[in-house]
Amino acid sequence: MSAQRIVVCGDLEKSMAAVLSGIPHDRLFVLVDAHTSACCLPSLSFIKEVAEASVLQVGAGDAHKGLESLSQVWSGLSGQGASRHSLLLNVGGGMITDLGGFAASTFKRGIHFVNIPTTLLAMVDAAVGGKTGINFNGLKNEVGTFALADCVLVSTEFLRTLDEENLLSGYAEMLKHGLISTEKHWAELLRFDLEDVDYGLLEGLVAQSIRIKEAIVEKDPHEQGIRKALNLGHTVGHAFESLALERGCPVLHGYAVAWGIVCELYLSAVRLGFPADKLRQTVSFIKGHYGMFPFDCHQYDRLYELMTHDKKNEAGRINFTLLRNVGDIAINQQATKEDIFEMLDFYRESN
Ligand code: GLY
Repeated sequence: MSAQRIVVCGDLEKSMAAVLSGIPHDRLFVLVDAHTSACCLPSLSFIKEVAEASVLQVGAGDAHKGLESLSQVWSGLSGQGASRHSLLLNVGGGMITDLGGFAASTFKRGIHFVNIPTTLLAMVDAAVGGKTGINFNGLKNEVGTFALADCVLVSTEFLRTLDEENLLSGYAEMLKHGLISTEKHWAELLRFDLEDVDYGLLEGLVAQSIRIKEAIVEKDPHEQGIRKALNLGHTVGHAFESLALERGCPVLHGYAVAWGIVCELYLSAVRLGFPADKLRQTVSFIKGHYGMFPFDCHQYDRLYELMTHDKKNEAGRINFTLLRNVGDIAINQQATKEDIFEMLDFYRESN
């Protein structure tokens, strides 16, 4: 995969016009969900070609990131005359960019697509880096492709109307990028005031966060090695996310990642000497903004079992990405069941 074109744009209209004219296409399709159709599409409709495009709409939320929505997108494309030379604009959060990317990368063996992420999580993570997919058989992102969008157009204007929880959810991935990059970036993320957001400053941090992910993806697009750095916080985070789902109280992905980071930094400190002061500062930031995921020792076995099902595991071993220090990444790290239970003790006690 070659490098992906990512444009962090101040003027969406101008950037969009340039992007559309740079990708030859016969027809334009726009994929939205029920939410982005109402909240985001109107702000793109001043662009004549978008206003005249065929709009495909699916239900909002992760529950709709499945075969039924995929079939709806394929049917919409096929039924409305999309050809191999058509272009799909995916306008939405990670659910839309994952689903739309997958639909586009498979329809007629692949058509061009552009991602316009409208949530912070999609801007800094889902829409960037070429992972597409849908949930299948109750498993998240079980079926998908690696396929780069022709362009990712990032307008932080969408963040001004994003609710606080979704802003925090995306910010957790930014914090992860801080931890795997430089002490300077990590420290500026901890300093940023999430209660009184300076959107100008946030735009700069978002651009930097995207560059960190981009640089890693360029080195290892298919996650054979260093791309696993992006999994920091996710082994435990996914287990929290699944347990929450089993309880019928789903949590936002970024919250689970933030809680997972607390656990995995503890493991990093115990196993690899990650500095205690940086652990303390990061944990305090996360506890202050994301609160706690509630569980007790009766759920340890279930959480452990969920970690053993993580699709990033290899040869039956739970595979963690840990840190020796900020920016000093150790992939493919294992831990014993005792280590993992101790880590869960730490999580509960650090309240
Ligand atoms: N979300 C992690 C990755 O794109 O690899």
